[in-house]
Amino acid sequence: MPFTLSRAVRPNILSLLPYRCARDDYDSGILLDANENSYGPATEANPALQLERYPDPHQTELKKLLAGFRGVPSPDYFFVGVGSDESIDLAIRVFCQPGKDKILICPPTYGMYSVCANINDVGIVKVPLDVTDGKFSIIPSEIKKALAADKSIKIVFLCSPGNPTGTLIAEKDIKEILEFQEYDGVVLVDEAYIDFCKEPSSVASWTTKYPNLIVIQTLSKSFGLAGIRVGIAITNPDIARVFNNTKAPYNVSTLASKVAIEALQPAGIAKMNSNVQQIWKQRDDLIAALNKFPRVRGILGANDANFVVVQLVNEKGEPDNEFALSVYKRLAETEKIVVRFRGMELGCTGCLRISIGTEAEHKVLLEKLAELLQ
Ligand SMILES: Cc1ncc(COP(=O)(O)O)c(C=O)c1O
Repeated sequence: MPFTLSRAVRPNILSLLPYRCARDDYDSGILLDANENSYGPATEANPALQLERYPDPHQTELKKLLAGFRGVPSPDYFFVGVGSDESIDLAIRVFCQPGKDKILICPPTYGMYSVCANINDVGIVKVPLDVTDGKFSIIPSEIKKALAADKSIKIVFLCSPGNPTGTLIAEKDIKEILEFQEYDGVVLVDEAYIDFCKEPSSVASWTTKYPNLIVIQTLSKSFGLAGIRVGIAITNPDIARVFNNTKAPYNVSTLASKVAIEALQPAGIAKMNSNVQQIWKQRDDLIAALNKFPRVRGILGANDANFVVVQLVNEKGEPDNEFALSVYKRLAETEKIVVRFRGMELGCTGCLRISIGTEAEHKVLLEKLAELLQ
């Protein structure tokens, strides 16, 4: 059954009359319509920021820049949210009826899909990745089997590159799910780490072709702006409209959107690209150094993100959570170097996930690991 928006979206969301804010009617002149405070902010903020006024609810300027940057035909394809975490929650609220519908995830994957599903009383179907030899690829035939067997699945979450796998999903595998005729829900591709792939790999431009595709991205990673909480969903204008109608009217603050707009100017994009290149270099160097330690079995996944997943082994050469946990704790508590223990994730026994840092940070890390991993 092909995707139809009116069947996919929850009926109460589809019939929603969006909140009409004061700025939707008029946005210039003497503004006495939104119960703002004309006396100004209680701080020394630059008056040009107009922090006493509500922000643009539509983020028009930011969406125009994003469309240009991501090669998407129009700002109408965008939703701007408070981090990409807002898009994850919003997608679940828009497409899944609490207590009835489900999402499909492919573990090991980003934990917020399950957290948001649980908060919204939405079920979770798990179709694990193929984790053989740290390959971390989706198994389209298994996903299709699950979708055909359970019509209450409304969203398939694909994390590409994955967290914690660091591995890009093959385009042909994503297509296979998007084109599966027995599924009439949406496919959400989470591209939080997409700019760290060496080849341009985003499927955002596919949103002009596939009405059932939602791509989420963020300024938290490649742009180094986790503190401003700006994430985006790119999807056909019909779904984007539903997202924009459902969000809180002024979800993105004036300060956050100002910084995001600055980052998307040519100088900001150049800086992002140059930082990404440095991260690539540090990623390669860190992998080479880690592989030399006797207690490292190897690096799992394809390293398409700004972290690496290193598998540690015990004296017998077996991947070992107890050992990995002891290294993790020693690093954090004695050496004040914090990485992430991921050993409980499927296919990740004995694994630590290490975010790529600066050369100086790696130097300290590697000195400590040299003591711990001999
Ligand atoms: C795969 C993935 N998606 C989304 C996010 C959330 O990012 P944001 O900061 O945009 O909310 C993260 C954060 O770590 C992530 O790893």
